[in-house]
Amino acid sequence: MVQNKAFIYKSLPNGWPVPDKNLTIEDIGFDENAAPPKGGFTTKNYYVAYDPSQRGRMRDPAIQSYSPPMNLGEPVISVSVIGKVLRSDSSSIKEGQIVMMQSSGSESYSKKDESAVKTTQIIEPKDGVPLTAYLGLLGMTGMTAYGSLHEIGKPKKGDVILISAAAGAVGQMVGQIAVREGLHVIGSVGDDRKLDFILKDLGFTSGFNYKKENMADAVKRLAPDGIDIFYDNVGGELLDVALANMKLFGRIVACGSISTYNNAKETTPYGVKNYGAMVRKRLTWQGFLVFDPNIVQWRKERDENITKWIQDGSFKSIDHVTEGIDNAIEGFLGMLKGENLGKSILKIADPE
Ligand SMILES: NC(=O)c1ccc[n+]([C@@H]2O[C@H](COP(=O)([O-])OP(=O)(O)OC[C@H]3O[C@@H](n4cnc5c(N)ncnc54)[C@H](OP(=O)(O)O)[C@@H]3O)[C@@H](O)[C@H]2O)c1
Repeated sequence: MVQNKAFIYKSLPNGWPVPDKNLTIEDIGFDENAAPPKGGFTTKNYYVAYDPSQRGRMRDPAIQSYSPPMNLGEPVISVSVIGKVLRSDSSSIKEGQIVMMQSSGSESYSKKDESAVKTTQIIEPKDGVPLTAYLGLLGMTGMTAYGSLHEIGKPKKGDVILISAAAGAVGQMVGQIAVREGLHVIGSVGDDRKLDFILKDLGFTSGFNYKKENMADAVKRLAPDGIDIFYDNVGGELLDVALANMKLFGRIVACGSISTYNNAKETTPYGVKNYGAMVRKRLTWQGFLVFDPNIVQWRKERDENITKWIQDGSFKSIDHVTEGIDNAIEGFLGMLKGENLGKSILKIADPE
């Protein structure tokens, strides 16, 4: 047996997860010499994606949602884990290949049964494309941004777009596409380092730090004639401000509501006050999930364009990498608290 350190979902949080109580790091062991499961394979893992939706799966199993709750005492499920195949009993997955597994444990080594094979992607290394891009721009996050912006936001050159959590994984990609397509791009972020990043590195037209400036004042100042598209990662007060500032026939892309994810059971969520704008301004407000067919249909175009743009240097894949599984809890909470910039990733081992 070798050590197999894992990031464990230990007990149900009420509000913010508490390190060492709700989340722990434990050795769950791995037998290097054991045969892979029948029709399955084993991996040594390099990178694990963090994603705010993981918080939604740390819930009372009685609460229904679009993805199942995580199991107590087991490794935290990640949307995507990249590793190298150690041993395989599958005809389509070979030893030594780099693979990306879906809905997989945050652990140093994994044992995957036959059912995992059909959702596992073999990654063919491409020049100029870092492996971590497959967790971000070329992964689920990038699919979210690319598909929903085009399908629901329907951007046109000259449109004014407001993006919340603009320096995060989804926000940085929505913003870069919007800049590229000739929109007037405004970002809302939670600190000045992020503001600098979206303005200087990503080429946003303007932005504001919502912790320093009143949101309603900032949006009026930066979009005096109103907003055509609000790309909403956060919900809460900024959504209300956006509703009040939408132009006629504007579009709201409801991607997430991270401002509510760590509310305790007793907390009453922010109540939207400007709903009346929906009818008055004939707005379209649509939610989506990344695996919906109308979002996934953009995959081929996303893969081709984003790969090309990363390779020619015109698109940035910015990651916040937490080094080592011992620091997994810190990296996860850092994403939820807004301490991380770009796509949050846990690095377990150096790719060999
Ligand atoms: N619909 C889908 O299929 C789908 C798929 C993927 C992601 N999502 C959603 O998209 C959103 C962004 O995800 P991501 O992966 O790109 O995460 P992320 O932006 O990399 O990280 C989360 C960011 O949210 C901001 N934030 C956290 N708490 C906040 C609060 N109370 N108020 C305002 N902002 C807060 C922080 O940025 P600041 O420091 O700037 O506040 C933080 O960095 C999330 O809501 C997520 O659930 C939806």
